[in-house]
Amino acid sequence: MKSPLPDYLQAVLEKARSNENGAPAGYIETLARADPSKMAVALAMVDGKIYSAGDDDVEFSIQSISKAFVYALAIEDAGLDRVMQKIGVEPSGDKFNQLSLEKKTNRPMNPMINAGAITAHALVVGPNSTAEERTDRILKALSKLAGRQLHVDEEVYEAELRDADRNMAIGYMLKAAGIISCDPREVVRGYIRQCAINVNVRDLAMMTATLCNGGVHPLSGEQIIPQLSVRQVLSIMATCGMYDAAGDWLTRVGIPAKSGVAGGIIGALPGQVGIAAFSPNLDERGNSVRGIEICEMLSADMELHMM
Ligand code: DON
Repeated sequence: MKSPLPDYLQAVLEKARSNENGAPAGYIETLARADPSKMAVALAMVDGKIYSAGDDDVEFSIQSISKAFVYALAIEDAGLDRVMQKIGVEPSGDKFNQLSLEKKTNRPMNPMINAGAITAHALVVGPNSTAEERTDRILKALSKLAGRQLHVDEEVYEAELRDADRNMAIGYMLKAAGIISCDPREVVRGYIRQCAINVNVRDLAMMTATLCNGGVHPLSGEQIIPQLSVRQVLSIMATCGMYDAAGDWLTRVGIPAKSGVAGGIIGALPGQVGIAAFSPNLDERGNSVRGIEICEMLSADMELHMM
């Protein structure tokens, strides 16, 4: 029997379309020109079945959604103890681009804000690794999770790099605070490259389903992310993934999530389904307006709320 899911997903998109609030990210030139009418959703089940609707082949840069997966890589490469010495696990309650360092330890408050994500980027591969080795490792790992070769959007990368004063400043502060030891410019460039990797909603749903499946890729059956990292990543997605809207999100949608300024959002219901939504218009906290609405509808209709 044909699954009713694709028609249902299409209906969800049509409902979300009436919400015209928000605007694409203004601070990255290429993203500011995004077509706000594009919209897509995908669900990947832990058994590997995938359903999608809308502009599901449109690519957009992964942006901050990469932070969840790169945090997992940092744990794998540097070990959880070292990662915990360098990055906290508490919500900052501030915007994603605030410095938000803990007073006692100097650690960025969590790996989902830029300061924590730049630190996580620096912990990938090894202490003496080059910028190229780190970005190669990240691109390969994200491609494996997506199940296809992903690429960096050079235009987005260049545009963000042209206007990277704030992230560069965060990089220098992290060096001055003793949190990173390598060249802050190299680390921030690598972090910006990581954010400029292009994906579509089907890629993101499959990557998320791998988290939901205890780190085992639903199609290849390979343990790509160790169990321990999965637990750590999902916990932090639940408390910090939507930044200063994390509480609002958790009460309304009720699953671990992560957003990106290109308009992507992932939601992970452990043991069941990885969700990805895309629509470029953002609210003032940097989260996709329609993406949130799509996830809220899915959570209510499919009873996904964990609580
Ligand atoms: O560092 C930045 O500002 C961007 N590359 C990523 C920010 C982001 O996606 C925040 N999420 N909503």
